[in-house]
Amino acid sequence: MNADGPEHARFASAANRDVPLARPGEFRPLALGSLRIWPPVVLAPMAGVTNYPFRALCRSFGAGLFVSEMITARGFLMGNSRTILLASSRADESPRSVQIYSSDPVDIGEMVARLVDQGVHHVDLNLGCPVPKVTASGGGSAIPVKPKLMARLVRAMAKRANGVPVTVKVRKGIDESLSTFRDAGRVASEEGASAIGLHARTAAQLYHGEADWNAIGELKSAVSIPVLGNGDIWEAFDALRMMRATGCDGVIVGRGCLGRPWLFRELADVFGDERAEPGGRGEPGPLGGREPAPPPRLGEITQIMRRHAAALAEFFGEKVGVQQMRKWTSWYTKGFPGSAALRDRLHRIETLADLDALLAVLDPDAPFPESALRVSRAKGGRTQRVSLPHGYLAHRDDDTPPRSPHSLAEIEAWERALNSG
Ligand SMILES: Cc1cc2nc3c(=O)[nH]c(=O)nc-3n(C[C@H](O)[C@H](O)[C@H](O)COP(=O)(O)O)c2cc1C
Repeated sequence: MNADGPEHARFASAANRDVPLARPGEFRPLALGSLRIWPPVVLAPMAGVTNYPFRALCRSFGAGLFVSEMITARGFLMGNSRTILLASSRADESPRSVQIYSSDPVDIGEMVARLVDQGVHHVDLNLGCPVPKVTASGGGSAIPVKPKLMARLVRAMAKRANGVPVTVKVRKGIDESLSTFRDAGRVASEEGASAIGLHARTAAQLYHGEADWNAIGELKSAVSIPVLGNGDIWEAFDALRMMRATGCDGVIVGRGCLGRPWLFRELADVFGDERAEPGGRGEPGPLGGREPAPPPRLGEITQIMRRHAAALAEFFGEKVGVQQMRKWTSWYTKGFPGSAALRDRLHRIETLADLDALLAVLDPDAPFPESALRVSRAKGGRTQRVSLPHGYLAHRDDDTPPRSPHSLAEIEAWERALNSG
């Protein structure tokens, strides 16, 4: 940076070229109960993605709250080894945040109590899952259709959390004709949730189309608890735009960081640092943003890929870690000239050495392609007709929890279905 501004032109899509950086004091840290998060940025829970290795990688670029992938309460409580591994963390992770999935208040209460005993600092409840197997049994995004049932679940969380903040994450509704986020906001605030995250798409939309930021603004003006806006944060400047347009208290970043963990560095840049007020009086205030550096070139990205792969191998063992890395190789190299030709081979890697050998042929000087900024690296663009249990809408006042899976075999089938969504 020199006195006239940044040394480089802003690397951003047309929508973001002129977006002003955060002004000093413009945004507040995100307050979740007693937790203060600055910048007000949350890594979205993503199944198969936000395990400890990826959370740690993202955190190494910039601060925020980094949420685990959803952990099924039944699998966790029954001691299923894979579920326990996915819920686990390491001593360097703080705050530690876990998303849970269940539609049973007893399981939810018990799981929250155990997580809090383990030192978890934040628990989120997934009330937005659109997977057919889940909604067809009345779980996931079908739960807010029954506000009294949702109330039981949130109450069970808050009661066993011992002061640790609990939040919920919901979608806009089932489809355009059945929206649920207003009821969900009311229930979340009445039952003791510290915030509500809104993925501003319906379950019918899945990941298709643009998120409806107006719904985030509407929710913000309707509830007194903090609102986390979610949907289409592809560039750091989108976060500023979303917060300005909706008044929301923080943003949840999903697909935008897949293969782009440095997005968290860019977010930290545009929001800027915190500092104590002059004279040490009053609340520390954010200082105002700075222009982010351009994204890394391919050589630096291959170094990040190696770090990520090594961390996955350390966490899951080399065989499973490298299998997991296969999908990431497409996400990291998306849009780079010549990478498509390598992709088949990258998807067959068995060892870290295989990965190294393939990455060595890529051109380290290739610049990050602008066309790769706003593309979805996961989940297709299809939509769905949401399956609900027979007669579900006739009993919206009912608070009976749907049946949960019980045997280990059932839980594993359930977890496979959840991960397929
Ligand atoms: C691969 C993948 C897995 C996901 N898994 C979960 C999950 O476990 N829990 C959840 O609440 N949402 C999950 N989601 C939804 C995201 O948390 C987020 O709401 C969604 O991607 C919208 O944000 P975006 O437009 O920034 O991607 C998942 C999304 C993706 C792409």
